[in-house]
Amino acid sequence: MLPIESNGYSVFFDNSLAELATFLRESSYSKVFFLTDLNTSEHCMPLIGKYLPELDNYDIIEVDPGEENKNIDYCIGVWQMLLDFGADRNSLLINLGGGVITDMGGFAASTFKRGIDFVQVPTTLLSQVDASVGGKTGIDLGSIKNIIGTFTQPKAVFISTEFLKSLSARQLVSGFGEIVKHGLIADRDYYYQVQKISPEEIPSEIIYRSVEIKNKVVTIDPFEKGLRKTLNFGHTIGHAVETFSLKNDSDPLLHGEAIALGMICEAYLSVKHNTLTENELNEIVQYIRKVFPDYPLHTSSFPAIMEFMKNDKKNSNGQIGFALLNAIGDCGYNQFIEEEHILQSLEYYQLVAGK
Ligand SMILES: NC(=O)c1ccc[n+]([C@@H]2O[C@H](COP(=O)([O-])OP(=O)(O)OC[C@H]3O[C@@H](n4cnc5c(N)ncnc54)[C@H](O)[C@@H]3O)[C@@H](O)[C@H]2O)c1
Repeated sequence: MLPIESNGYSVFFDNSLAELATFLRESSYSKVFFLTDLNTSEHCMPLIGKYLPELDNYDIIEVDPGEENKNIDYCIGVWQMLLDFGADRNSLLINLGGGVITDMGGFAASTFKRGIDFVQVPTTLLSQVDASVGGKTGIDLGSIKNIIGTFTQPKAVFISTEFLKSLSARQLVSGFGEIVKHGLIADRDYYYQVQKISPEEIPSEIIYRSVEIKNKVVTIDPFEKGLRKTLNFGHTIGHAVETFSLKNDSDPLLHGEAIALGMICEAYLSVKHNTLTENELNEIVQYIRKVFPDYPLHTSSFPAIMEFMKNDKKNSNGQIGFALLNAIGDCGYNQFIEEEHILQSLEYYQLVAGK
């Protein structure tokens, strides 16, 4: 598979760890750092050792895993370690991990000494098909997700399906949520092709196509002025429910699980406000419910969920912004929906999927 060209960098597939070795050989960084979490240190660093045996001069900065650690305190820890290990402006940070590591590492690198180079080596399905491309870096502030961050492009992205072998089935299904979204917003044929595969056995062609879809959108609109907003389908409600779940549930929803819920609600809104048909809605709901777990959405949680939605970055002039489907494979954006209708969409979810 040919590399995909993005905004000034390449996304490598297949033999991508060999490509990483070449990248490092051909560059002249003063120091190389890996940012990992406990899980990627255990499961992914050994693959780096296997494919890059000649690489011996590097330091590892390891953080605790999980969204709850994607915050300024951990970021300070990363900056401090970079300082302690003598990082200068000609250093490279290699972010080896899921979306938490690629987002936080990208942010730490883009701000350290006014910006050092970084590359992304995404190790979850979600980060491979979504977080790795597009140049969004960031951290959460309190319970508000990704509210602090920069648009900074990595020097390169290296995607290897080898990393996915140690991922749990639940994490694979979560990543699959973004793949389904790519079909729904941009490519009807792909949406039906995706239905034929299982989240636990994703062919690399599927990952490639998802990255192609996302890359096309972010290359046309890198700063989310227009078309890029279509990638937010399912995310306005999904993010709010994810935040609620992170704060309240002992076993919180994963990102892709929350987006699956959000896609059901926002497909409902697409029937009310766009040209999506009831038939297409029913089809989408049936498929999403087949793949993703239902979430017990209680009416008592609606006020908190609405409050989170009001803090969403996609809002404008106090109105809550949505990307809604015109049809399967075609998405609009900049649709501002009244609170009453949003609440109806949550009730619709309760009706079709809630317990
Ligand atoms: N920048 C973007 O455009 C963008 C897009 C989508 C999502 N995101 C962000 O991505 C984050 C979610 O990403 P995620 O789902 O990858 O979460 P994550 O980084 O928390 O990874 C999920 C879990 O899998 C573990 N893990 C990672 N790779 C592994 C491997 N190969 N084997 C075994 N375990 C492994 C991690 O340690 C973690 O426990 C969110 O913070 C979200 O905001 C960013």
